[in-house]
Amino acid sequence: MSILEELKRVERLPKEYLKMTMSEKEQRIKEIKQKFGDKLLIPGHHYQRDEVIQFADVTGDSLQLAQVAQQNQSAEFIVFCGVHFMAETADMLTNHKQKVILPDLRAGCSMADMATITQTEKAWEKLINLFDETILPITYVNSTAAIKAFCGEHGGATVTSSNAKKMVEWAFTQKQRLLFLPDQHLGRNTAYDLGISLHEMVVWDPLEEVIVNEYQTPLQDVKVILWKGHCSVHEKFTVGQIEDLRKHRPEMNILVHPECTYEVVQKADLNGSTHFIIETIKKAPKGSAWAIGTEMNLVSRLAKTFKEVEIISLNATMCACLTMNRIDIDHLLWTLEDLEKGNLRNVITVDERTTAFANLALERMLKQS
Ligand code: 13P
Ligand code: SF4
Repeated sequence: MSILEELKRVERLPKEYLKMTMSEKEQRIKEIKQKFGDKLLIPGHHYQRDEVIQFADVTGDSLQLAQVAQQNQSAEFIVFCGVHFMAETADMLTNHKQKVILPDLRAGCSMADMATITQTEKAWEKLINLFDETILPITYVNSTAAIKAFCGEHGGATVTSSNAKKMVEWAFTQKQRLLFLPDQHLGRNTAYDLGISLHEMVVWDPLEEVIVNEYQTPLQDVKVILWKGHCSVHEKFTVGQIEDLRKHRPEMNILVHPECTYEVVQKADLNGSTHFIIETIKKAPKGSAWAIGTEMNLVSRLAKTFKEVEIISLNATMCACLTMNRIDIDHLLWTLEDLEKGNLRNVITVDERTTAFANLALERMLKQS
């Protein structure tokens, strides 16, 4: 089901949850979790709010949460604290008996919405006309199940920010060139790291249905076709912010997510997935100072947890992912109380055909990871 169809199912949060105190809500969640035991699994992405992540049985980046879904074949209910594409992935990787539930259906991802299956099929037809059968489609997991299925059906795979390099290397063993969906920045940053020059990359604009060939590259030299999509949270980190810090706080280490633009990633000291960011801070020397370019819930949590290092957001106004933040303690409790009553609301189900092809793409990735 597309996120637009999902939105038709959205119900209003009952008012009673607004009247409860935080400790009442926390207590109820603990009780329900205890009652369900191993029948219930709550995975939580690192961008989730503190009030929610405290109840996660397992936390992780997108790759780790996909691996958890693949490995856990016993929990009857998986209440996924993350966004829609992650819940879809979990549904596809778990068995028929397991139910995946998203506490708030409005928790989509603006980047995933930037590539629809209709746009992708149209683009593919045009690109195949231009490049013949030389292209392999690969997609960032931040995409709909339909896009994953498209990649699976055409011999391609999914990637996450943790394994993008490995997967792009693999992709070049399959075909001469790649279509990288839907995040142009992760695609560009990864390809560049692997020695592909900017001149060997072009951008596919799905709205204009044209190739944007900034460097007038002859078509036979194009190695990567980047889908013109981006993360609206990570695009808020800028070169200006880095230059400002370099001037006023030259001792600061700058650590960003590869969904940031190429220019930002080039000027940063380090870049990597949310898991990489956490591991880097864990290993940071006492007294060191870090400016981090990623979603604010994670940055604030790191600052609270690792008091012996200084941590600030690269963007002083902090960048929040509005959709990740849709999952709050009220929606989590409402979902769990409904579950307790036997009312399964917000179950995420991907149809069988889509699941079969998308799983080809996911399994090609999980095998390499
Ligand atoms: P990772 O946790 O895989 O780094 O992904 C970041 C992200 O933007 C998820 O939406
Ligand atoms: Fe999507 Fe960006 Fe939010 Fe991740 S941070 S869920 S990519 S909008």
